[in-house]
Amino acid sequence: MPPVITHPFLRACLGHSTNYTPTWLMRQAGRYLPEYRALRAQVGGFMALATNPELATQATLQPIARYPLLDAAIIFSDILTIPDAMGLGLSFQQGEGPQFAKPLQHEDAINRLSVPDMNTLRYVFDAIALTRRELNNAVPLIGFAGSPWTLACYMVEGASSRDFSRIKTMLYARPDLLHRILKINAESVAQYLTAQIEAGAQALMVFDSWGGILSDTTFASYSLDYTQAVLQQIPRYNAAGDIIPRIVFTKNASLWLPAMRRLDCDVLGVDWCANLTQARTILSGKADDLPSQSLQGNLDPSVLLADKQAIQNQTRIMLDSFGAPDTTLEKTCQHICNLGHGINQHTPPENVAVFLETVRQYSTALRA
Ligand code: CP3
Repeated sequence: MPPVITHPFLRACLGHSTNYTPTWLMRQAGRYLPEYRALRAQVGGFMALATNPELATQATLQPIARYPLLDAAIIFSDILTIPDAMGLGLSFQQGEGPQFAKPLQHEDAINRLSVPDMNTLRYVFDAIALTRRELNNAVPLIGFAGSPWTLACYMVEGASSRDFSRIKTMLYARPDLLHRILKINAESVAQYLTAQIEAGAQALMVFDSWGGILSDTTFASYSLDYTQAVLQQIPRYNAAGDIIPRIVFTKNASLWLPAMRRLDCDVLGVDWCANLTQARTILSGKADDLPSQSLQGNLDPSVLLADKQAIQNQTRIMLDSFGAPDTTLEKTCQHICNLGHGINQHTPPENVAVFLETVRQYSTALRA
């Protein structure tokens, strides 16, 4: 007999019914929290925090301590740890976003690229193990990585970009070079996520934040196929026999949900442009022969900048848009409440509490 899954977040990931809609927030540990800013000030910067397992554990636990209604923790780290371990030289200038000292802009640099030794990322696995001990099963811990495509965007551009002209030029002019990067990224991400399972991650999320900048004709071969290659390489169960649910979030890509159905994952995350009624129909598997998948999202993060009344209203509208969750079926499309992207750094922390309380109350009532 497989172990009984009790945590609402893990249950909903796997399509099982819950008494309310489980909720967490992308970037729930971060700059909107004064306790996070204080912790970061102690060590001077984001990477100093992320590379120290004790401090990364503290940062992970901050939102859990503040908000008793959060249903999952996500390890405090970044998707750019992998390219950093590949030797690209990651730094974060305050208020500037990430920057690579050695971006992949020449063929010889791309030819030298290789899968990093996972030991250089030991700090992430240590933080996961330590966080699991500190959490003591209060809520499940999510591990994560960037998709091969989204990592490549930063590796080629060298920083955040407005139009992604460098990587798009490479895509159309030298697809061979881009495929080489994506292949190495896929192998690296697969090893990284596998090691996160071994360290104690109870669910995994792949952030394909920039999948939505691709064209309809290139999304599958440059983003989706490589995310699928990652998913196919990582184990479904940990050593104890627990199933490890997988979430794939692609921003700006809900148009392509029918294609994303074939990803070997349990949950698809969507941004605020997605219509949850339509997405639920697609993920329920009524129009194809694939198993159902659950749906994560999708409140516009800007809602949390508004007043209490607006937050309550918009949260209820989102929950209504998904509709009353199924409480009977063994496995179907369930809803995991989240924002449609990371929380805005100017969000008043008390607004997060309003959001979480509204979801808990209203989603409980929806099932009655
Ligand atoms: O969700 C969590 O609480 C876990 C921590 C987490 C961080 N980054 C911490 C972080 C997660 C899941 C990420 C993922 C990440 N990182 C993504 C995918 C999600 C998304 O937002 O699309 C991306 C694209 C990155 C790359 C990245 N890291 C950028 C573009 C930036 C700068 C912009 C920004 O929002 O600050 C970062 C820095 C970063 N990663 C911070 C945090 C808390 C802020 C750094 C600081 O404290 O100054």
